[in-house]
Amino acid sequence: MHERFRFKNKNELILKAKELGIDLPFSDDISPLLESVSVEGFSVSNRLVVQPMEGYDSEDDGSPSDLTRRRYLRYADGGSGIIWYEAVSVSSGGRSNPHQLWLNNTNSGKYALLNNDLRQAANKLGFNPFLVIQLTHSGRYSKPQGKPQPLVAAPNPVLDKTNPYILTDDDLKKIQDQYVEAARLAALSGFDAIDLKACHGYLVVELLSAKSRGNSVYGGKEPEQRFRFMLETVERIRSEVPQIIITTRLNISDCYSGGFGVDGNSQPDFAEPVLLVNELVKKGIRLINISMGSPYYNPYVTRPFDTPLPGHPVPEEHPLKSVMRMIKGTSLFQKKFPRIFFVGSAYSYLRQYAPNVGAAVVKNGDASFIGFGRGSFAYPSLPVDLIKTGQADPSKVCITCSGCTRLIKNLRPGGCVIRDRDIYGTELKKLIADGK
Ligand SMILES: Cc1cc2nc3c(=O)[nH]c(=O)nc-3n(C[C@H](O)[C@H](O)[C@H](O)COP(=O)(O)O)c2cc1C
Ligand code: SF4
Repeated sequence: MHERFRFKNKNELILKAKELGIDLPFSDDISPLLESVSVEGFSVSNRLVVQPMEGYDSEDDGSPSDLTRRRYLRYADGGSGIIWYEAVSVSSGGRSNPHQLWLNNTNSGKYALLNNDLRQAANKLGFNPFLVIQLTHSGRYSKPQGKPQPLVAAPNPVLDKTNPYILTDDDLKKIQDQYVEAARLAALSGFDAIDLKACHGYLVVELLSAKSRGNSVYGGKEPEQRFRFMLETVERIRSEVPQIIITTRLNISDCYSGGFGVDGNSQPDFAEPVLLVNELVKKGIRLINISMGSPYYNPYVTRPFDTPLPGHPVPEEHPLKSVMRMIKGTSLFQKKFPRIFFVGSAYSYLRQYAPNVGAAVVKNGDASFIGFGRGSFAYPSLPVDLIKTGQADPSKVCITCSGCTRLIKNLRPGGCVIRDRDIYGTELKKLIADGK
């Protein structure tokens, strides 16, 4: 049964996990999170990652606004080893909302300025963050003018609400060109790596499961057909933009019918994701950020929470089970591919104990990095606090209330309504006043 996080101390948390049949990894010593590591020749100062978190706050032309800059500068001051920029669209038509960041040849200089400022801010504190940009096309969740304009890789009766437009192979070839161009601009703007986003139901992961895509070189029954778009894009970026490192945020299971990495009961089946990772490794990919589920279909899988969005059901599953699904799934890949760096996700439900669980995971070799999504909105300075005190401050952690998601679902700028109240609490009040 679902339960809010009401555990008063670590023993209550560990006991609850035991009751659920979960052996929750836990380490009082968080030092494994503070170890530096070399990734593709870049010395990453610790194992903490700011996960990509969309802020819905770009300027109309897709460039970072003052609010975007503020968010990223808070991350830079916080000391995470990797700052993984949120989903940045490769085209105007593929934006998830009118204020999704969009990297293009008229605004790349603004990204360069922001990256420069981030590095300067972090360097002053003795950090040098590894900067990744998540490149995306929103596919069936495209909403460039604020209304759905789905661009779908393959029909899926579970997800289709209307008769959506199915992208042709020619469309996909053009989109691939846009990825390559965005990667070129990312390199010019001072990013260390690009993430070819393949998670959460957006275009690239949808192609990975596009069995019902007919008469196409980018879909069909065989995995090689469905992997082609992603692998071809990796190959092209590798040869046309050799100076940029390539990574991916990969859904190892969508956990819904017709999705990627699922069995006949919509449960995780990692056979195809393992096959894909094998191919990605052959193409030189060394860093993979793991996720599962879809924020649109089964949000508790992607981001276990206390409170769902208003009007949405409380899931049956206990959030600790959702947290553990992600830990175990990530571990399976980390153990299978020990030389690859995997980033684990979905730790924020664990509040002030997330670093203890993450430290145990890293110590056991079940992941190389621990990512914080909502936790970074709420508490960007977690790494600095861990360095200073060895623990997280309970008064600063995310309480998984879904307030930030509620803001962005209503096309408002996203941030923490609880811990960054002056800006985002005010946004939420305005939303409520508007009856939403
Ligand atoms: C408001 C919001 C925006 C998000 N934006 C992105 C995104 O741009 N790209 C992405 O891969 N995941 C995105 N996510 C998912 C997070 O990166 C993360 O996987 C998820 O919140 C679970 O981690 P957590 O428990 O640390 O929050 C978003 C989640 C939220 C709540
Ligand atoms: S609004 Fe803040 S506390 Fe609530 S889920 Fe988002 S980051 Fe966490």
